[in-house]
Amino acid sequence: MSRPEAIIHRDGELLAAATAARLVTAIVDTQAARGAASVVLTGGRTGTAVLEQLRAAPARDAVDWSRVDFYWGDERFLPSGHPDRNETQARVALLDHVAVDPDRVYAMAAPDGEFGDDPEAAAAAYAELLAARATDDTYPAPVFDVCLLGVGEEGHTASVFPDSPAVHETGRSVVAVRDCPKPPPIRVSLTLPAIRNSAQVWLMTTGEAKAEAVAAALGGASEVALPAAGARGRRRTLWLLDRTAGSGVPAHS
Ligand code: 6PG
Repeated sequence: MSRPEAIIHRDGELLAAATAARLVTAIVDTQAARGAASVVLTGGRTGTAVLEQLRAAPARDAVDWSRVDFYWGDERFLPSGHPDRNETQARVALLDHVAVDPDRVYAMAAPDGEFGDDPEAAAAAYAELLAARATDDTYPAPVFDVCLLGVGEEGHTASVFPDSPAVHETGRSVVAVRDCPKPPPIRVSLTLPAIRNSAQVWLMTTGEAKAEAVAAALGGASEVALPAAGARGRRRTLWLLDRTAGSGVPAHS
C-alpha cells in the first residue's frame, strides 16, 4: 500500500488555492491521457473553498469541463436546492460557472426526488449508478481519478463517522447514514472501499487541531483508508493540511 504524503500549507486560504491548482493540473493531465476525468467532490468549508478558488483561477479555462464526470463523496439528505446541500454549494461555487455537461454531473438523490424521503433508496440508486460506470470488474464503481475529502474535528470523512457502522461497511459502495453528529443527521455517503477505489485520494484538513490529529495518524499505524494498489498503477493519498490555529478558510453559509 502506498504511504500517504502530507503537504502542509501556510494557511487554509493557500491550501484551497494550491489544491485548486493541483486539481486543474490533475484534470488536464488525465484528459490529455484518457480524454475524460472523474472527480469526487466533498462538502464542507474546505471543499467549497477549493471550488471557489478554482472558479476564480484563470487556469480553469485549461479544463474541458464538458469532459469531467462529477460525483459526490457524500450528500446531506436535504431537499433539492437546499443551501446546505453539498450539490447546491458545489454548483454555487463552481459548477454553475463553467461549461459542465449536465449529464456528467452525478448528484445524489434528494428527499423530494424520485426515491422520496428514503435515504436507503437514494444510496442504493447511487450505488447502481456507480456500478453502471465501473471502470473494470474489480469493483462496482469507477476508479475515480481524484477523490476530494474533508475531515471533521472528530475524524469523520465524507459522512463516515468514527464508530459508526459505515466505518466497517465492506459490501456496499454507498450507504445511508443516520444520527450523524454533524448536522444534518441523515446523509448518503460513499463507503471506505468506494473511496479506496480512487486513483488519488486528497484529504484536506484545515486548522491546527486536525493537523495534529493527522500527524499522529500518519506517524502511527495509520488507519487512513489508503487506496490499495490497483490495475491502474500507483495509487496515491495526499493529506493537504494547514496548521494555522484558526480554520483559515472563510466561513460558508
Ligand atoms: C459534509 C462533508 C464533510 C466535511 C468535513 C470537513 O457534508 O459536511 O462531506 O465530510 O468535508 O466535515 O468540513 P470542513 O472543511 O468545513 O472542516
